[in-house]
Amino acid sequence: MGFLSTDGSQPENIKLLAGAVKQLFISQRDSYYGFGLWKYLPTKTYRDFTASEEIIYNVVSDIIDNTASDDDASCDDDLKCVFLEILKNDQLDIREKKSAIIDFIAAGIETLANTLIFNLHYIIKDPFCLSRIREEFQNSSELIYQDDLSKATYTKACIQEVYRLQPTAFCLARLLEEETTLSDYNLKAGTIVICHSMLACRKEENFKDAKKFKPERWIQNNNLHVNTESGSGIVIPFGSGKRTCPGKRFVNLELILLVAKLCKTFDITFMNEMEIDCEFLLVAKPPVNLILKDI
Ligand code: HEM
Repeated sequence: MGFLSTDGSQPENIKLLAGAVKQLFISQRDSYYGFGLWKYLPTKTYRDFTASEEIIYNVVSDIIDNTASDDDASCDDDLKCVFLEILKNDQLDIREKKSAIIDFIAAGIETLANTLIFNLHYIIKDPFCLSRIREEFQNSSELIYQDDLSKATYTKACIQEVYRLQPTAFCLARLLEEETTLSDYNLKAGTIVICHSMLACRKEENFKDAKKFKPERWIQNNNLHVNTESGSGIVIPFGSGKRTCPGKRFVNLELILLVAKLCKTFDITFMNEMEIDCEFLLVAKPPVNLILKDI
């Protein structure tokens, strides 16, 4: 929809949107655990949640209304085309269009940004890994093509290893629709079950040298392979089943491009040691300041 600027300075409404998305996750974290007083009283958690929902709705709604009324709106990249496609779909109610776009924006900002930071952090700390990534893209032009990506086994293995060790969505939740027995516990319908995939991924019984960053564990005969260690199926950064992340394919493409372009073009330094915080998602505690120097 063309609402992001490319010169680094974002318009006020976009800064507001990004802040509200961050707050939405923080309020979700605060409402998730503990007694849940917010269910009975309009607590601060509840007020912060509704205020951020409102900001997100108003900002996105304005952008959508402006774009929808612009007869000349056109798209030149895939993501923009997805949004325009939704807007032009006559079968959908405008409220459904807005809520779909809001979901995409809210679900896509913090997740992708933090996943990228986690990747850079692990890669920069490991000079061998950085040099292997640079090697894989040394012959590609400024524009990286599908062919370059399909050969970039090591880079993909790094990304997979970061998903194993530091997934931004570190656990999955499900509300049981029917009574279920899990590990000898009888759970009633309506119980929330949380699958803490990150903890499981860091256990030695699931992965050898579980705490070590070893992209090689995902490589066999120069190909990215389905790791046969017992835990490999629990690396589920995008969830699983019916509610799996619809942004997964887009992210898989976007992330490898971002990692490749940044590593290929710059020497990157983290100005301070990265600290991790839990804002419902795992995030890099701000400020995250990076120095990028042309190679
Ligand atoms: C690195 C980036 C991302 C990660 C790690 C991620 C991860 C996840 C996870 C774990 C879920 C829950 C899945 C489940 O419960 O089984 C989810 C849901 C979702 N994601 Fe993503 N996501 C990312 C980026 C995106 C992007 C870019 C978009 C939109 C373009 C997006 C849209 C959504 C939506 C709409 C849902 C809700 C799906 C539903 O409940 O049916 N995500 N994501």
